Amino acid sequence: MSGQHCVLALLVLVLGACSEAPAPAASSPAPSASAYNLSLGMRDFMNLVLEPTADVLWDSAGWVNDIETGYQELYPTTDADWDMVRQRAAQIVEAGNALALPGRAVDNDAWITYANALSAAGAMAMEAAAVRNQEDFFQAGAQMYSVCSACHQTYNPEISRFAAN
Ligand code: HEC
Repeated sequence: MSGQHCVLALLVLVLGACSEAPAPAASSPAPSASAYNLSLGMRDFMNLVLEPTADVLWDSAGWVNDIETGYQELYPTTDADWDMVRQRAAQIVEAGNALALPGRAVDNDAWITYANALSAAGAMAMEAAAVRNQEDFFQAGAQMYSVCSACHQTYNPEISRFAAN
């Protein structure tokens, strides 16, 4: 008899605990800007994060005709090189997200459109690298370039030349 009481008491305890459990995470509000480390200003983000990554992709697409070295294909020739540019392309996808972070995004309008377009160009490059498709990889690089230019034209028309070297 006393054993039964014990079980019942336990059950009540357990149910009580359940009803006081915190609401599931999904219903929490989205994190605010204070949830992110935004210490990199826009210029540092561009010069130290985005451009070096984009440069690797541009330097791996198309061809050059140099007086000294002659005609030269730039595309990766080994699996390791294709895998490396695919990593860089994935970083472009995430750089687009980093641009869209609350507190970094300049507005919730065209800025987000350009940031998303940057991620989309990165995803295109990733796919092309995965199947080693030179033409698609080149197109992804061209698309990325036009996203950079379009955003600069909208937000800082003074940036005319950004793809250094
Ligand atoms: C969502 C908008 C946006 C996108 C997309 C974007 N930029 Fe920028 N970029 C800016 C803004 C705004 C500035 C000006 C920052 C400042 O001077 O305060 C800038 C400045 C720069 C600068 C100059 C920094 C300096 O020292 O003055 C470089 C280089 C640059 N961007 C490279 C790139 C490259 C490469 C891409 C594409 C792969 C790109 N950006 C895509 C918004 C963007």
